[in-house]
Amino acid sequence: MDLKTALAEKIANAAGMQGDQVLEMLETPPDPKMGDAALPCFKLAKVLKKAPPAIAQEIAENIEKPDFVSEIQVAGGYLNFFYDRTYYAQSVLSEVSAAGENWGRSDIGDNKTIVIDYSSVNIAKPFHIGHLSSTAIGSALYKINKYLGYNVVGVNHLGDWGTQFGKLIAAYKLWGDDDEINRDSVSAMLKLYVRFHEEAEKDEALNEQARAWFKKIEDGDEEAMRIFGWFKELTLREAKRVYELLDVQFDSFAGESFYNDKIPAVLDELREKNLLVKSEGAYVVRLDEEELPPAIILKSDGTTLYATRDLAAAKYRKKTYDFYKNLYVVAYQQNLHFKQVFAVLKKMGYEWADDCEHVAFGMVSLEDGTLSTRHGKIVLLEDVLKKAVEKTLSIIEEKNPALEDKEQVASDIGIGAVIFSTLSQSRIKDIMFSFDRVLNFDGETGPYVQYTHTRCASVITRHEANDAGMDVSVLSNDEAFAVLKSLAGFPQTLLAASEKNEPFYVTRHLIELAQAFNKYYYEYRIIDDNKEQTNARIALARAVKDTLKRGLSLLGIKAPNKM
Ligand code: ARG
Repeated sequence: MDLKTALAEKIANAAGMQGDQVLEMLETPPDPKMGDAALPCFKLAKVLKKAPPAIAQEIAENIEKPDFVSEIQVAGGYLNFFYDRTYYAQSVLSEVSAAGENWGRSDIGDNKTIVIDYSSVNIAKPFHIGHLSSTAIGSALYKINKYLGYNVVGVNHLGDWGTQFGKLIAAYKLWGDDDEINRDSVSAMLKLYVRFHEEAEKDEALNEQARAWFKKIEDGDEEAMRIFGWFKELTLREAKRVYELLDVQFDSFAGESFYNDKIPAVLDELREKNLLVKSEGAYVVRLDEEELPPAIILKSDGTTLYATRDLAAAKYRKKTYDFYKNLYVVAYQQNLHFKQVFAVLKKMGYEWADDCEHVAFGMVSLEDGTLSTRHGKIVLLEDVLKKAVEKTLSIIEEKNPALEDKEQVASDIGIGAVIFSTLSQSRIKDIMFSFDRVLNFDGETGPYVQYTHTRCASVITRHEANDAGMDVSVLSNDEAFAVLKSLAGFPQTLLAASEKNEPFYVTRHLIELAQAFNKYYYEYRIIDDNKEQTNARIALARAVKDTLKRGLSLLGIKAPNKM
């Protein structure tokens, strides 16, 4: 049991309440001078029907003081608890070291299934920096939830359906060059697509050809499917290179086209449930009560839409995985889309629509404004990652040219920096991406956390193991105490990150832990002649190292021992 829970029990006994009721009320004061835990007694005033100061006084008199509490102060309506720091150090360090590889792990997920739809790239479209957030957030949630005992299914809902593929094949048949496509893949496809649009402005007949090719795809025509399959394979090959760099995994690549044969059943069901109405030639589901615009299900020419496919996909996911949660890590531009999809599912009578959640995030833009598909300037994610690695390598060449495994370390740091920065703020905020900030070793960045990890690794390596005991009383100063508190909070941070789908809780925690440790490191020598005290400080460094490494790995970031 952690200390806060144990304290809550004792308070509850003294106040005649339930332990978990009190636990919810217990706060951690921002200033440690006001205690390590505090109970705002006004929260109890309603239940106990007494004035807060009287409650505080009474609990202080009745409580059976736990061993780890050194002092209890009544401060007006607050009850402040001060921990015995030596006891605290002992208990945190033994908790972290006993957990070992499993520090922060939990079985709270109880094998319930969480489906996460993330990255979800589009065929024949570049994998650009805009996909970075979805990929990094989704992948972190994937790893964190697995660590918490959930069964996680990662889905890459490929954008592999739509009339644009008819245009692409028509363009290929007219002007395509196989060698060029095999060599340049997506950028060659993009060129064909752009050319098609230019020429179709002058020659309306081209659109006829595109429609005919799309019809062929719909009918499963052999040639159409062969060309389309080839485009798909080339696009995926490019994407998979990026996934490898980012250490990102998927369990399913079931994209939009996967649902073709599952759509008629959805349409039948909507008709049966009297939800489908004709509107200006199209078929829609009205969502007046939900105060949303109608969801278009079938266009007037009979083709289905993105939303239609998402209805089929959600039903499929429920049936196949029986999810506990079904998450969509997609930009906030698609807010309305997901509101509509979930509302239609609810109207169809599916209570599990409430278990579907749009995990929205903000836009990524580059500092110099180069990111804009519309202006034809696209920044490929692969290029960004490569550039980050190159920049890191040149920093290493300058500062530490003798480093072993330079290329590997540069890749761990450069790519880690990009992922960390993507996850560095509440996901809904827009991100301005800047290489200098991302790679800064002193800022609140990935390299800073990695650097702190190497600092711990290095002091541990320098220390000579011995069988003297450990004198943890040396860790009772403010700086060490702050490090210990941060360590102790790590499991809670993982739970919160999972609950709110916010990997940024983890990046923030790692920054705080690294800062707390560095502050300690500047003030105190770790290794000195006193073996028992040295052993305690080394144990602290080891706990910090392991926690940083675990936290980074849950974000998909490596932690080299030297840099
Ligand atoms: N391919 C889409 C895009 O790039 C994202 C798909 C998200 N997933 C979904 N089930 N709609 O915008």
